[in-house]
Amino acid sequence: MKIVTNPFEMKNLSITYGKAGRTLSLVPTMGALHDGHVSLITTAREHCDIVVTSIFVNPIQFGPSEDFARYPRPFDKDCAAAEGAGCDVVFAPEAKDMYPAGYSTFVDVENITQYLCGANRPGHFKGVATVVLKLFNVVSPQVAVFGQKDAQQCLVIRRMVRDLNCSVGLVFAPTVREKDGLAMSSRNSYLSSDERGQAAFIYKGLCAAVSRYGAGERSAAALQGAIAGVLSGAALLSVEYIEIVDMDTVAPVPELGAPALAAIAVRTKQTKTRLIDNAVLGGAF
Ligand code: PAJ
Repeated sequence: MKIVTNPFEMKNLSITYGKAGRTLSLVPTMGALHDGHVSLITTAREHCDIVVTSIFVNPIQFGPSEDFARYPRPFDKDCAAAEGAGCDVVFAPEAKDMYPAGYSTFVDVENITQYLCGANRPGHFKGVATVVLKLFNVVSPQVAVFGQKDAQQCLVIRRMVRDLNCSVGLVFAPTVREKDGLAMSSRNSYLSSDERGQAAFIYKGLCAAVSRYGAGERSAAALQGAIAGVLSGAALLSVEYIEIVDMDTVAPVPELGAPALAAIAVRTKQTKTRLIDNAVLGGAF
């Protein structure tokens, strides 16, 4: 497996693969790879000849009081995990090469970013869309794979790809979970053991909404109430939002007539860790 840090070198390598008729898939990550990331690499492997995994803790998608400095960066372990999953190239640029002095260009996907995490993390999706477009331009993949765990991120990238005529096919892969249902996340390592125990209530809340939906409930307030009822049993989780939103616009829907996304964000009380999860009600992603 190759490790490339320079964006120009990465671009030249992609051009060389392209000239040789090889197709490329890209899995953008911030590292601290877990089985969720590995599943994306496995999916990417099925789509193209060459799999590129980017590892870049993107400074511009973190707010000033967020965890950029302490975000885990186990680079050697990540490279071993990527290689084990069938990755051909790790692209791990440095911030000074992605955002050199004088850097001034940003991608702002409007409207759908005003809800959910966008409302609670100002500028976050601007940072995500900007870095993802830059990665698309450097790597020129035919396919890019993202996880449904970050549902709003998937919808933001899909909107950007449509709006900016990006030549990349998107694949959204299912969320990989721990045995008790907690969605795998690089941030789970921040949790205290008591918080880790209670974090499983997030998935239990989503399951309650899925089962109420299955029984015919179509009122968003009732579905939100079912989730809130479960989460009230977890004293160490404080709810940031519980929303039922439209799969395209991400706007809240009061009554479900079409598939909708049940989305949750909580912050833990001891380590102040932010956790998100979601489930699609009445359809697939
Ligand atoms: P990161 O949080 O490292 O996630 C990288 C990719 O892994 C994302 O597409 C995310 O949705 C997916 N992922 C995370 N947990 C998952 C799980 N449990 N199951 C399946 N997929 C999972 O998301 C980012 O990085 C960044 O915002 C990025 C897109 C790389 C831009 O900087």
